[in-house]
Amino acid sequence: MKKTMILLVATMATLLLVNTAFAGGKCPQKRATKSAPSGIAKKDATAKADKANGKKLYEKTAKPMACQMCHGMKGDGAGKLGKALKPAPRNFSCGKTMKKVSAGQMFWIIKNGSKGTGMAPMKLKDKQIWDVIKYIREDLM
Ligand code: HEC
Repeated sequence: MKKTMILLVATMATLLLVNTAFAGGKCPQKRATKSAPSGIAKKDATAKADKANGKKLYEKTAKPMACQMCHGMKGDGAGKLGKALKPAPRNFSCGKTMKKVSAGQMFWIIKNGSKGTGMAPMKLKDKQIWDVIKYIREDLM
């Protein structure tokens, strides 16, 4: 009985450790995504964007797929589908990597996708894209 308990505790501890190790994307993270044209990279229309709407799009309603499926509810790149992808989805919570990614860069990639990665062009209006960017930059980064 005692042995079984010890084994059980040891197994649980191991599982917990493994889980923590995979809890988020790497940081710093390599980026397979190309740079947006410089004029667009400097754009930023998040000032007037609607963050609450951005959150809804990110978590549930974005087409073809909600961002969290890959980028994770916390933006750490560890969404359900994201775990299987190579390259891995961007880990928005990684400051070291995200300081190189401007709002305009995000806009360009969300609109056009990132060739050679699982990041498809999103079927969103420009206004919706800025809403999502505002949510990511203010609440997940
Ligand atoms: C099917 C999985 C998937 C979905 C769904 C998805 N992404 Fe991505 N995303 C990726 C992958 C993979 C990359 C490429 C990572 C890299 O550059 O190495 C990426 C890259 C990005 C980048 C590029 C940042 C940079 O480094 O320039 C942004 C911004 C982004 N995603 C935002 C979003 C937003 C916002 C949504 C929802 C509207 C979304 N993604 C939905 C998988 C996904």
